[in-house]
Amino acid sequence: MTSASAALKRAGRAVAFVPTMGALHEGHATLMRRARETGAAVIASIYVNPTQFGPKEDLSKYPRTLEADCTICEREGVTAVFAPTDAEMYTDGPGNVSTWVDESQVARRLEGERRPGHFRGVCTVVAKLFNTVQPDAAFFGQKDYQQLKVIQRMVRDLRYPIQIVPVATVREADGLAMSSRNRYLNAEERSHALVVSLALKAARELFLKGEQNPERLEAVMREQVVGASLARLDYAEVVDGETLERITEARPGDVALIAAYVGATRLIDNLSL
Ligand code: PAF
Repeated sequence: MTSASAALKRAGRAVAFVPTMGALHEGHATLMRRARETGAAVIASIYVNPTQFGPKEDLSKYPRTLEADCTICEREGVTAVFAPTDAEMYTDGPGNVSTWVDESQVARRLEGERRPGHFRGVCTVVAKLFNTVQPDAAFFGQKDYQQLKVIQRMVRDLRYPIQIVPVATVREADGLAMSSRNRYLNAEERSHALVVSLALKAARELFLKGEQNPERLEAVMREQVVGASLARLDYAEVVDGETLERITEARPGDVALIAAYVGATRLIDNLSL
């Protein structure tokens, strides 16, 4: 992968990178399209990274659809797909990592609190992928808002010469944020899952009407999610858009985030105020 990327650069191409865990959907295709629009050669990685899953999470059942994924990559004009094995990514195996990359501030709350070790796994694998692919730019969806901010901080702190390009969340026609985990939902759960994006919209509308108290904005989100019988709220917070820390007064650029279980599936979504 490293020599393929170097060859593209020698030929005068910039390299744009789209890291994924596969099970590709329209959200990923949009990342690839944005990357292509820059005129760069696009490299996508497909790797379900074990170190970012907790012991009770869905690593073993995470959808693996490599052939269909490659068809999407081809359709979107991706130049190369990097689909490494665990042994290629982790010399001594994913269970025996001795060197981690651990962003400790932006990663601290919300997902970081609920999923201990998650962002350490993400940062470590993304650093390895960056080192291997050596891209000029990398494209990340805003759907995983905290991940995007953690990666931006990591790139800043470790001086990676890589431009991180955020891409807006792609939604189904009814507003549900696209996610590889949506395929776990049955029809009834799918209809209840809509409450997550509706709750975020309700908070934003209230903010646009002048409500700046984060607790009142959070209460509106909680009420909506609690109203859907198959949904169980994990958190609903309005926080600083850069640090993800709690705020005392909501301002434009702050962000509302929700994590909720719908049936057994954990969904996350967010909306900037
Ligand atoms: O967002 C994802 O799909 C993953 O967290 C990433 C960035 C590919 C790292 O495994």
